[in-house]
Amino acid sequence: MAKYKIAWLPGDGIGVDVLEATRIVLDKLSLEAHYVPGDIGWDFWCTEGDAFPPRTIELLKNVDAAMFGAITSKPVKAANAELAPAFRDKGLVYRSPIVRMRQLFDLYICLRPCKAYTGNPLNFREGIDLVVFRENTEDLYAGVEFAPVPPELEYTLTKLSKPFAPFARLPAEEYAISCKINTRAGSERIARAAFEFAKKFGRKKVTVVHKANVVRATDGLFLDAAKTVAREFPEIQMDDANIDAMTMWLLKNPFNYDVLVAPNLYGDIISDLCAQMVGGLGFGCSGNIGKKLAVFEPTHGSAPKYAGQYKVNPIATILAAKMMLDWLGETTKAAAIEHAVAAVLREGRVRTYDMNGKDSTLDMAKAIAAKL
Ligand code: IPM
Ligand code: MG
Repeated sequence: MAKYKIAWLPGDGIGVDVLEATRIVLDKLSLEAHYVPGDIGWDFWCTEGDAFPPRTIELLKNVDAAMFGAITSKPVKAANAELAPAFRDKGLVYRSPIVRMRQLFDLYICLRPCKAYTGNPLNFREGIDLVVFRENTEDLYAGVEFAPVPPELEYTLTKLSKPFAPFARLPAEEYAISCKINTRAGSERIARAAFEFAKKFGRKKVTVVHKANVVRATDGLFLDAAKTVAREFPEIQMDDANIDAMTMWLLKNPFNYDVLVAPNLYGDIISDLCAQMVGGLGFGCSGNIGKKLAVFEPTHGSAPKYAGQYKVNPIATILAAKMMLDWLGETTKAAAIEHAVAAVLREGRVRTYDMNGKDSTLDMAKAIAAKL
């Protein structure tokens, strides 16, 4: 029996390319792992009406961790048009499988380290080393949405909220409501994860990102929860900033920041910004981490136009595999992957197209594997 059972979920588009590349690196490490392929992605939406079929959910209940590639998603009309005729106009709604997975398995931490490796020609500045903790199950991603707005909701909001008045005058199909829901427990646990990380890895500061001056109820709660948690960690500095100002300050002085913690949507936005500062889509790696399961993925999407061309940079996914090894407790092997990636970037001989190179996805993986 292999020591670890790992669900292997390439998805579609370039998810397939980058997971194949990542396997080259993992296989070189001779990790005692059994990789179990799982069905997920656009094809399963088209043929079965479900991009994340129940058998894949079952698989995830019985693994130690998962590697996930990427999945194409399309707007409502296009998604319905591509469904097999038997499923069309049945009211099936496409919901992002990764968002569902995060909620189903309570993968409440979205961990996104963004480090500028020396020699990466795409670094915005050398030496950037930021870590984003994004809350991963609540907020505007809760999935509580109304379009059109049902009359009961309109009635209740009219009764309870004065600022709702101008909307209540509109016909139901002329506006929509997406609920931003944040809980104290959910906010505290992501803040705690950020502070614990800071403490464990000798980081100096945690910055809480919010918009509590305007979005007073939910972001006010988030900020308050984070402040409560901060008191448990007197050795770590805490500050906070509004999401809009944060985007400017991060660009202006990335070295003023260290660990960032944010509610789901702001974390989504800020983690793309941080990834771009260290090389963009080819370098953004991500861990969706819960108490029992963790799913690791590149931050980038499925880029269908590059699918199967072995053109894109696999480093984001290879670094996600590094994160998986850390999570499994295989810290020596994890460090080996990071050193190998760093060495290849420092030497600069092998580069994919995003780095103005000509090497393929698999060449990059082989170059990294060769350093192990
Ligand atoms: C991410 C992505 C996802 C998200 C999409 C693919 C649903 O942008 O992981 O950051 O919004 O969380
Ligand atoms: Mg995103």
